[in-house]
Amino acid sequence: MLKRNKVTIIGAGHVGATAAQRLSEKEISDVVLIDIASDMPKGKALDLSEAAPIYGYDSHLTGSASYEDTANSDIIVITSGIPRKPGMSRDDLLRVNAKIVKEVTAKAAEKSPEAILIVVSNPLDAMTYVAHKVSGFNKERVIGMAGVLDAARFSAFLSMELNVSVENIQTLVLGGHGDSMVPLPRYTTISGIPVTELLPKDRLDAILKRTRDGGAEIVKLLKTGSAYYAPSAAIIEMIESILKDKKKILPCSALCTGEYNVKDLFVGVPVKLGNRGIDQIIQIQLTTEEEARLKSSAMTVQSLCKIVDEVL
Ligand code: NAI
Ligand code: 2OP
Repeated sequence: MLKRNKVTIIGAGHVGATAAQRLSEKEISDVVLIDIASDMPKGKALDLSEAAPIYGYDSHLTGSASYEDTANSDIIVITSGIPRKPGMSRDDLLRVNAKIVKEVTAKAAEKSPEAILIVVSNPLDAMTYVAHKVSGFNKERVIGMAGVLDAARFSAFLSMELNVSVENIQTLVLGGHGDSMVPLPRYTTISGIPVTELLPKDRLDAILKRTRDGGAEIVKLLKTGSAYYAPSAAIIEMIESILKDKKKILPCSALCTGEYNVKDLFVGVPVKLGNRGIDQIIQIQLTTEEEARLKSSAMTVQSLCKIVDEVL
C-alpha cells in the first residue's frame, strides 16, 4: 500500500491553520492539527475537509488536542505559542514560548521519534534550540523557519521597487530571525544581474531596512497579531523540499558546529533540505564585515539561549 505522508502542525492559530490549508491544497500529505484548545483544531480541520470537494484535494485532515493522533508523523511543525503584539519584540516572547515549545516538543517527539521538526514559534532560533535540546533528535532533523520568510520579504520589496517579476529575484538572508538578521545584497540577483547594478545604494539600503523590520511592519498594520500568509508559505516550501527530497538550498535556522565560525548555536544559514532533513550546511564566502554581522547575530541568539536554559 502506498504510504501517505503525515505532517502534524502544533498550534492551530493563524500560522498553523494557514499552513494546514496550503499543505492540504498541495495534496502532498495528510495533516494533523493540534492545539491546546480542544475543539478549535477539530473545527478548522473539518472546515478544511469541507473545502476539499471544491478544490479537489484528498488530503486527510484531523483536528485534535491529543498527541495520540500525531503518532508516526514524518514532519512536525511547531507554531504553538503567543504571537507578537504591537510594541512587543520577538524576544519578549522568550520565556512564555520556551515553556510551550518545551512541552509540545516532548509530547510530539515521543509519538514520532523519527520525525523532522520544523520550528516556527518565536523567538525562532532560541525556540529551535529548545526543540533540539528537548527532543534529543540529531541536528539534521531540527530546523527553524525564518530565512525563507525573510528572503521572501526582501524579494517582494525588490519586485515592488523594480517592477519586475518575483520569479526573477534571488535573495539570501542569514543570521538570527530578528533585528540582527543579515540580508546579503552581494548574493542578490535579478535574473542573474547583481542587484547593485540595478538599484542605487540609498534605495537598496532602504529595502534592507524594510526587510529587517518586515515582521514589525505587519504587526503594526494587523494590530492584533503577526504575519501568517507569508510565514505559512515559507513553511510549505520547506516541507515540500523535505517530502519530495527536492534538495532545495534554503536559508534555515540550523545547528552550526563550526560553520561560519559559529559553534553550537542555531542561526540562519543556507542548507540543503531533503528527506533526511538537513543534507548539508552550504558554506559560502563572506566578507569580513558580513561574517562579523553574522557572528554578532549569533551572539544575540546565544544570549537568548542562556535565558532559555533557565526555563528548561
Ligand atoms: P496564534 O496565536 O494565532 O496561534 C498560536 C496557537 O498556539 C494558538 O491557537 C494557541 O492556542 C496555541 N497554543 C498555545 N499554547 C499551546 C500549547 N501548549 N499546546 C498547543 N497549542 C498551543 O499565533 P500565530 O500567529 O499562529 O503565531 C504562532 C507563533 O509563530 C508565534 O510565536 C509567532 O511569533 C511565530 N511566528 C514565527 C514566524 C517565523 O518567521 N519564524 C513567522 C510568524 C509567526
Ligand atoms: C515575522 O517575522 C512574527 O517573526 C514573525 O513576521
